[in-house]
Amino acid sequence: MIIAIGSDHGGIVLKPLIVEYLKSQNIEVIDVGCYTTESVDYPVYALKVCNLINDGEADKGILLCGTGIGVSIAANKVKGIRAAVVSDEFCAEKCAEHNNANVLCLGGRVVTPEKAVRLVDIWLNTPFAEGRHSKRIQMISDIESAKMK
Ligand code: RB5
Repeated sequence: MIIAIGSDHGGIVLKPLIVEYLKSQNIEVIDVGCYTTESVDYPVYALKVCNLINDGEADKGILLCGTGIGVSIAANKVKGIRAAVVSDEFCAEKCAEHNNANVLCLGGRVVTPEKAVRLVDIWLNTPFAEGRHSKRIQMISDIESAKMK
């Protein structure tokens, strides 16, 4: 399993503990930045992570900004990406089980690093339920095909 992770300055507080956790689980991590608290533009990092997934270089992605919202909006503009902003355990589970979210978005001004690691753990270890949910994911792909030129 290879996870690409990217953050702006608002989410960077979460990154070290998440990267450490992923490595402790023998998960390979591609860290696309940012690396300092200097103000940067979150769409840049969202696109880098999504490109790695679509190019087959990463299996899933984690995106961090102040709220998780900006990176999720940017990521969901990329075909094939299902990015979920999560701040509680229930949604971390359901975005994997029902939505097959391939990108998890977290807010550095919303969740603590410890909680972020818990949410990542739940998301990574919850299988997609398939069945009726597969049909709905296909419907999302159909919208992409029709609307994303
Ligand atoms: C940056 O100040 C902040 O706007 C960004 O991290 C994010 O929260 C946007 O959604």
